Amino acid sequence: MNAPKNADKPWSGRFDEPTDAFVEAFTASVGFDRRLYKHDIQGSIAHARMLARQGILSDGECDAIIDGLGRIRERIETGGFAWSVSLEDVHMNIEHALTAEIGDAGKRLHTGRSRNDQVATDIRLWLREEIGTVETEITRLQTALLDLAEREAATIMPGFTHLQVAQPITFGHHMMAWYAMLDRDAGRFADCRRRADVMPLGAAALAGTTYPIDRAYTCELLGFGRPAENSLDAVSDRDFAVEFAAAASILMMHLSRFSEELILWSSAQFGFIELSDAFCTGSSIMPQKKNPDVPELVRGKAGRIFGHLMALLTLMKGQPLAYNKDNQEDKEPLFDTADNIRGSLKVFADMMGHVGCNRERMRESAKQGFSTATDLADYLVGKGIPFRDAHEVVGKAVAFGVREGRDLAELDIEELRRFSPAIGTDVFDVLTLEGSVAARNHIGGTAPEQVRAAIARARLDLQCRRGQD
Ligand code: ARG
Repeated sequence: MNAPKNADKPWSGRFDEPTDAFVEAFTASVGFDRRLYKHDIQGSIAHARMLARQGILSDGECDAIIDGLGRIRERIETGGFAWSVSLEDVHMNIEHALTAEIGDAGKRLHTGRSRNDQVATDIRLWLREEIGTVETEITRLQTALLDLAEREAATIMPGFTHLQVAQPITFGHHMMAWYAMLDRDAGRFADCRRRADVMPLGAAALAGTTYPIDRAYTCELLGFGRPAENSLDAVSDRDFAVEFAAAASILMMHLSRFSEELILWSSAQFGFIELSDAFCTGSSIMPQKKNPDVPELVRGKAGRIFGHLMALLTLMKGQPLAYNKDNQEDKEPLFDTADNIRGSLKVFADMMGHVGCNRERMRESAKQGFSTATDLADYLVGKGIPFRDAHEVVGKAVAFGVREGRDLAELDIEELRRFSPAIGTDVFDVLTLEGSVAARNHIGGTAPEQVRAAIARARLDLQCRRGQD
């Protein structure tokens, strides 16, 4: 018999010809999945412990495996590990190095296991950790928003519908809208983590294994919620990856909308806020420019994350059970998603901690566009006039104001009374911006008092979330 042509490969036995050089590089994943080395080693140590406890490995073999893997981890972390493309992926690279390190015991590690359940386990271990970091970053951004909302709880700004001035609101209330979106995002990641927290190990290639393994014990060692119920599903399921990308996409959709507002608000035309210099860049040609690059880039990254969600959904849609090599394509979109949402959240939290507000400008803008017209209608309803009639009366008053170039609050009492004799001098209390926002004094309303109460409730919520970690 000829010497095997794929001598370094653990599956060389069946093959006569060496792998085509290009195919070897094309099918390898070590270039990106080496990032999973810590989780791969963690999974292998738990697997070896379980095998020894079940008498499938000797205690000596198990100790040698654990020691060897520890030394390999150290070598990887200090840059002294030689990754090899011909060993295809992180799993075979580490197993090969282990055998070189400790001899035959290394060859026994793969007993009752396959790369199929191994890789599914590694990604779940990695993702669980990653979700923890994402949750921490969301909380940090939410905290920055609470601080800003508290500082600006009574700052008046125009609220918009159709990007037209609608009614006065407070800047704090607006910030708390973003807080609420992020709160749902945190909930989605927590939910995703629950389903990622299931252990595939023990499924082996697809059908389970003939060895007397103890999956509950491996599960306990790795801190998973429970072992996967079905071996076929365990090795082929990537729902958790799709869910993560979906939660990430919704988060990025929120950050992108948020970015859009920051970009508009920091423009000369709005002039509501000033982003700190540390989060902007200049122009190489126009000396006056200060560009909101950070929110623009986050808005741009939303597209890339949506793309990853589409890639993962499409990756899965045609796959028959159980494992297929297609699944190797799950990692790059996942890694890129995690890196970019983490980065976007971090930069946003830092940026929102340094936002300057131009209160005068916001106030002036809220005064324009007859933003207290609804308040005047509500006032008339309070005087016994049906809302539809009140709406008509105020419409006429607004038309008069437009012709005159004056806001409702700038009309005198005689002028106002021409539209309805029910109007008294107390009307000016409701036509002021402060009166308008203070009157919306119920849960969810824009009154400064309610904004402060919402902030207090949110701080308690965040404390509970931190307590659960
Ligand atoms: N690199 C592979 C992946 O990421 C590991 C599993 C390979 N399994 C196999 N049967 N070829 O999916």
